[in-house]
Amino acid sequence: MHAPTELRARALQCLIEPDPSAKVAAVYAMAAASREGTCVPDAQAALSSVAAIPGRPDKPELVPPLQVGRRAMNTPEGRAMLIHALAHIEFNAINLALDAVWRFPGMPAAYYTDWLKVAREEAYHFSLLQEHLRRLGYSYGDFIAHDSLWEMVERTCGDVLARMALVPRTLEARGLDANPPLRAKLAQAGDQEAAAILDIILRDEIGHVEIGNRWYGFLCRQRGLELLPTYAELARQYRAPTPRGPFNLQARRQAGFTEDELLALQAASTAAG
Ligand SMILES: [Fe+2]
Repeated sequence: MHAPTELRARALQCLIEPDPSAKVAAVYAMAAASREGTCVPDAQAALSSVAAIPGRPDKPELVPPLQVGRRAMNTPEGRAMLIHALAHIEFNAINLALDAVWRFPGMPAAYYTDWLKVAREEAYHFSLLQEHLRRLGYSYGDFIAHDSLWEMVERTCGDVLARMALVPRTLEARGLDANPPLRAKLAQAGDQEAAAILDIILRDEIGHVEIGNRWYGFLCRQRGLELLPTYAELARQYRAPTPRGPFNLQARRQAGFTEDELLALQAASTAAG
């Protein structure tokens, strides 16, 4: 397939690619072209998709979150189910980063290259997990999966401010909280390789949430909005999930959340009971 020289069009082409390995390869190639200066963003490019978004394989079958069930860490199959669930999150994360690149016009060039960096790192995370799944005797698509992350991407298609508020700095930020206990369980089950992959993921996800926070702040300033009340209003309007502690406050601070925001988060969690 001919690859566009305009970055947002090329991100859209990667987004509609259904085959996971082909998508990873296309994202790596796009990142390389961007580094070499042969693929640059045009913030004004008028784009629309002719194919289904996101492109994804026939399997995994997508089901409502409650149908996915619990995963017993003490069996190899249970562990494979967990790695599969993480691989599915990373696959969605590649797509959400690509969607952030192509969908929203009129942003500074750095916005597009930031989200391209995220897409590249998510592709790397997905490939690490896919490889590990293979070592365990399974592959991506062998288990069912749920899609609550992508639903928020769809809900926020109309406004880049809502997207930044609710996808990276809400849903992806929950990954910062979820990572350490999951890593501990995997290490305890003797899966040091999976634990090492989770370390890489946490390191990079701090950067992704930081990118979300940075562009959320940029858009608030541009529109003359206050960070905290605007976030509360968007969370209500778009039915964001209620935050649940315990929070990884250290990672969240590194990702650029202010002390006021962390207090508001803990207050919302306590109020939800
Ligand atoms: Fe990731």
